[in-house]
Amino acid sequence: MSPYAMTRTLPEDATGAALRADVLHGLTGSPKTLPPKWFYDAHGSDLFDEITTLPEYYPTRAEREILVARATEIAAATGARTLVELGSGSSDKTRHLLDAFPELTTYIPVDVSESALRGAAKLLLAEHPALDIHALVADFTRALVLPTTPGPRLVAFLGGTIGNLLPEERAEFLTSVRGLLSPGDFFLLGTDLVKDEATLVAAYDDRAGVTAAFNKNVLTVVNRELDADFDLGAFDHVAVWDPEREWIEMRLRSTVAQTVKVPALDLAVNFAAGETLRTEVSAKFRREGVQAELAAAGLELVRWWPDSEGRFTLSLSSVPAA
Ligand code: AVJ
Repeated sequence: MSPYAMTRTLPEDATGAALRADVLHGLTGSPKTLPPKWFYDAHGSDLFDEITTLPEYYPTRAEREILVARATEIAAATGARTLVELGSGSSDKTRHLLDAFPELTTYIPVDVSESALRGAAKLLLAEHPALDIHALVADFTRALVLPTTPGPRLVAFLGGTIGNLLPEERAEFLTSVRGLLSPGDFFLLGTDLVKDEATLVAAYDDRAGVTAAFNKNVLTVVNRELDADFDLGAFDHVAVWDPEREWIEMRLRSTVAQTVKVPALDLAVNFAAGETLRTEVSAKFRREGVQAELAAAGLELVRWWPDSEGRFTLSLSSVPAA
C-alpha cells in the first residue's frame, strides 16, 4: 500500500478565530444568523449521517442513485486522470466514481477535517492501492492551490452543499472553481431541485426529530467553544420554504424572552419571545438557474443527469476552449 500525502493550508487556530468572528457577526446582526458550517462537530456529523437515512430526507439517496447509474458516463465524458473532491468528508460517494474511472491516477480530497481526510484516505488506499492520494486540509470557500497532477482534471462538489451558500457566495465559489480548471477540465456539481413544498419541508422537519436535534446542535457547539449559555430547551426547530428565493430556511425560534451570554466574546444577546435565529439556507435549483450561474462563472453546462424521480441532479460543466 502506497502512503498518501497531506497538505494543510489552514492554520491550527483558524477554526476558533472563524467561529468567534461568525458568532459575533451573526448574533449582533438583524435578523440573527449563524452559518451552517458550525453544525458539523463530531456529534453534528453523526446527526447528519442519521438524517441521510431518514425516510423524508431524499437528497442523499437520489444522488447516490445518479452516481451509480452515471459513473461510467462521467468517466467517459471527462476522461479524468485527476479527481478533486471539495468537502469530501468520509469520501463515501467517491467510491462509486473511483471504480468506474479506468484512467484515474490521482485523487485530491479537500476538507476542513484532517481526521475525516485521514480516515477516508486509509479506507480508499486499501481498495485502490495504486491510487495517488493527495489530501488537502482546506476550506473550499477560500482560494485553493492544488498540487500539479495529471489532467484532465475533474472537480466534484456533491451533496447539494452549494445550496448552503447565499447567491453572492455561490457566484464567488463558482468563479474560484473555474480558476482551478483549464480547458479540457470538468466540474461535477450536485444540486437539489425545486419541488412541492410539503416534500421539501418534511425533508428538513422529519417526524423523528433528528433534524431538530441537528439544528439545535449548533447551540451546543457555541456553548462548548465560546462558553455560552444557550438553553436548548428554550428554542424550537423551524423549517420554512421561501417560494421567492426558492430555498428552505432552518431557524431556531426563541420560545421566551431571554438573554444569552457569550463570555468568550464579552457579549449578551437578547431574544424576544418568538424571535428567530437563521441557521441555514438550503437553496433548491432549476436547470436554467444552474446553467446561468455556471455560465456567469465561465463554465458551460454539458450534461444534466437527474435521478429517476426528478428530485436531484448531477450536472457536468466544462471550460470552453479559449
Ligand atoms: C449537507 C448541506 C446538503 O442542505 O440538505 C440536512 C444539510 N440540513 N438537513 C442540506 C442539512 C438539514 C444538507 N447539506
